[in-house]
Amino acid sequence: MHRSKVKEILARDSAGGPVLVQGWVKTRRSSGAVSFIQISDGSTLSDLQVVVQESLPDFALAESLTTGCSISVEGELVQSQGKGQKYEVQASKLEVLGLADPETYPLQKKRHTLEFLREIAHLRPRTNTFGAVARVRNATAYAIHTFFQNRGFQYIQTPMITASDAEGAGSMFRVTTLDLLDVPKKDGAVAVEEDFFGKPTFLTVSGQLEAEIFALALSDVYTFGPTFRAENSNTSRHLAEFWMVEPEVAFCDLDGLADLAEDFLKHVFRQVLEDCPDDLGFFNQWYDKSTIATLEGIVNSNFERLTYTEAVDILKSSGENFEFPVEWGLDLQSEHERYITEKKIGRPVVVTDYPKEIKAFYMRVNDDDKTVRAMDVLVPRIGEIIGGSQREERRDILLERMKQAGMDEKDYWWYLDLRQYGTVPHAGFGLGFERTVQFITGMQNIRDIIPFPRTPKNAEF
Ligand code: 4AD
Ligand code: MG
Repeated sequence: MHRSKVKEILARDSAGGPVLVQGWVKTRRSSGAVSFIQISDGSTLSDLQVVVQESLPDFALAESLTTGCSISVEGELVQSQGKGQKYEVQASKLEVLGLADPETYPLQKKRHTLEFLREIAHLRPRTNTFGAVARVRNATAYAIHTFFQNRGFQYIQTPMITASDAEGAGSMFRVTTLDLLDVPKKDGAVAVEEDFFGKPTFLTVSGQLEAEIFALALSDVYTFGPTFRAENSNTSRHLAEFWMVEPEVAFCDLDGLADLAEDFLKHVFRQVLEDCPDDLGFFNQWYDKSTIATLEGIVNSNFERLTYTEAVDILKSSGENFEFPVEWGLDLQSEHERYITEKKIGRPVVVTDYPKEIKAFYMRVNDDDKTVRAMDVLVPRIGEIIGGSQREERRDILLERMKQAGMDEKDYWWYLDLRQYGTVPHAGFGLGFERTVQFITGMQNIRDIIPFPRTPKNAEF
């Protein structure tokens, strides 16, 4: 007999027939001559109840089961008498695959704190919360791919090891095989030519620059992969390793990009609402009672659009006591972003045209020569979820911006070449994948969104 998933069993139209189910024991209790075992196989939030009668030879075995044991059960699927469950399995055969010592198994029936569960990240996927996060994460990734695939975007895989700083922000992890205790030197400096790649290399902060190469050949492309930032940001929204989705579109300006971002987020939220009703219901009940209403509201509303200058005016006249100063020319802090999207507008907001001094070298300079065609999408609770821009397609202006940023044009010769040969207006953005799942679930901390979080001083598992 082949194994049925709990999800598939619970979706059946009617009871009846033999089933084989395998999973982990959530709880077990005895009631008279019957043993009730709740098992989960992670396919869905719901457990499946297995009923073992005293008359069965395996009854003693069933009575010995504790939380965390893995079992294999054959039996008959029957209508359940119990409350809140459709079906149960009347066991005819029970096999224990692996025991879990109740004295030491860390996942007990009581609720554990998320902080404690982070320390046992190898077992936390078995909890309701982390099973649900994993399934929503999966559904979100799927929705992202379907959105772009339906629109004819090509999925491009960009390198993780790179020699260029895509954001020009300098917060990159070094990749080296040099012996740190005996670094080879030449003229007092590190002899980088002896390193693996013969030059300094890093983990990428973004696949954008390589995505631009493909956009200027295939028109509509996107990347979806891990990115790395060595920033010492110990916040609930920052990871040192996170996944980013980066569409890059040729023959597109900032307005077209903002439309794309809005359609994209709405599609993703709509599809996850459709695909994960149980898991989202769980988050809505236990973590944030506004999660589902917020997602449904966004799917059915239009995003607000503001320029940075308008956003600064709103903040200045808000009468709020912000921790960080608000001044034209300073970057917006998370508290400012949240004020605008949560309190002032109450919907996602696309903020455009930031001062060029606070944005990356590749963003297209506006005619005022003060601002660039940048765009951040802000959502309630999270703040910035998307950062993007129209790209500077004019070679001379780009070169000027690179010089001002102290970059060596020789290192970016290929990026400049794209502006030399068949340049076109183009634009793209980056969506933080974990911030998106964090927003969808309503979870407080981004460390609980990625299976194994990497943060300053922490790279367990
Ligand atoms: O705004 P960012 O830095 O934009 C870029 O990297 C561009 N190259 C993207 C592009 O235009 N193709 O990052 C994009 C998004 C942010 O809006 C945020 O959601 C997420 O990536 N992000 C992080 N998520 C988790 N932890 C971090 N440390 C993050 N840094 C950025
Ligand atoms: Mg940004």
